[in-house]
Formats: sequence, C-alpha cells, structure tokens
Amino acid sequence: EYIYKLRGIKDIEEKLKKKLNIHEVKVVPGNLEENQYMMVDLGKTTAALILSKIHDNSIIGVTGGSTMAAVAHGIEKPSKSNNVIVLPARGGIGKEVESQANTIAAEMARRLKCQYQLLHASDTLGQQALESILQDPEIQKVTNVIKTADLLVFGIGRADTMADRRDLSPEVIEKLNSHKAVAEAFGFYFTREGDIVYEMKTVGISYCDFQRISTVIGVAGGANKAEAIVAISKLKKSMILVTDEGAAVEILEKY
Ligand code: F6P
Repeated sequence: EYIYKLRGIKDIEEKLKKKLNIHEVKVVPGNLEENQYMMVDLGKTTAALILSKIHDNSIIGVTGGSTMAAVAHGIEKPSKSNNVIVLPARGGIGKEVESQANTIAAEMARRLKCQYQLLHASDTLGQQALESILQDPEIQKVTNVIKTADLLVFGIGRADTMADRRDLSPEVIEKLNSHKAVAEAFGFYFTREGDIVYEMKTVGISYCDFQRISTVIGVAGGANKAEAIVAISKLKKSMILVTDEGAAVEILEKY
C-alpha cells in the first residue's frame, strides 16, 4: 500500500518532477512489478501523450523493449497530422520480434496511419561490419532521416538486465560494473549521474542527436527501475517521463 496514493497522483507527479528536475512527469497509478497488466495503462498514457505531440511532418524515433511494445499497442486512434513518419531510433535486432524497434515502428505507424521506415542493422556488429553497413546507401537513407527526428520515444532499462538480455561479453560486463553503470537507453549505458559508460556499436541516433531532439519521452515502470530512471533523467532537462506509481514512490523515498 502506497502512502502517496492518499495524496493523489497529481501530487506525486509534482514531487517527482521537482526531484528529477525535468520538464514533465506523468505517473500511472499502480506498480508494474506487482501487476503486469499495468503495462497496458503505461502504454495507453504514453500513446495519448505521443498523439498530443505529433504535428505535420513529425519524424518519430522509437526504441524496442516490452514497454515500447505496449506503447505501440496503446495507440488507439490515427494521428490527424500529415506526412508523419515513424522509424527505429537505432539499429538492433532483439531476440523477440514483438519487441524489436522495427516491429514497434511498423505497428505504431499502422495505428497512427502514417508512414514508417525500417532499419536492418544488428546491434552486435563488429567494427568492420559496422563500418561497411554505414556505407550502405539504403541504411544511410534511413539513418539520415532518423538524425532529423523531432520526437523520440524510448524505453529505459536497468544496465544489468540489459547486459543480460543482450548477452554482452564478460569484458563489457566488467566495464559496466567497474564504472557503476545502472541504466540503459537507446543503446547507451549510463552511471547514476548520467555519464556514458558504454555504447552499443550500431547505427542510428548518436548521443548528440539525442540532445538535439526537441521532444523526448522516456517510458519505464516498476520500482526496480527507479535508479535507472533517476540516471536517465540526468541526461536532458526537457525530457518527459512516463512512469508508474511503483517507480515514482521508490524514487521519492530512496533517491
Ligand atoms: O532494447 C531496447 C530498449 O528500449 C532498451 O534501450 C531499454 O533499456 C529496454 O529496451 C527496455 O526494455 P523493457 O521495456 O522490456 O524493460
């Protein structure tokens, strides 16, 4: 039972916004860790926010993961804007098709009734393979568009969970541990202070691109992601966060 519930979600949102020092915070009631169905609410809330931010010629970058999959499925009506396009923010082929950024971009576009483009590049490329893929005209066409994105919607993960999910090498895991990486977002691993520890070798938005994108929406719920959310909130003041009560209360009490 959450004490903050008594004072209402609006109050939590205000407190969290102040604590994280970011532009906007939306908190969905409940705790994802206890109730997976919460993911639907998190998805719908983020989807509504996306619809409110889309305008004519919007270029929307999205990442993968189960939260972002829920966001795509949360879109319940088409966008009224013209010439909107959705693309994966970075290359990276996860193990599960449903939660790959490509699949999420296509699903979002289907629901928004807008265009989409796909990026066919794995995030486990060696340096050489990466360099040759960067020369590929088809890839370049897509990455050039991604770099001009004005809206980015991304999932936030724990560094340890994501290292595991991606089967990172023992050397990289050692680096993440010794530098105290706690968070992962769009292929980058960060410390609690928001410093980059490691970057997945892939194509798509760079950290500079991220800083330049006018509207960025980070989505993550569950008390276990509290520290990761704190870290990612350090990256950009104008960021909008969509989270759940479980993570929000954990952040307010522990960080
Ligand atoms: O792998 C894509 C990604 O968006 C990561 O950048 C992020 O850390 C993770 O997914 C979040 O996954 P989930 O929503 O399943 O926790």
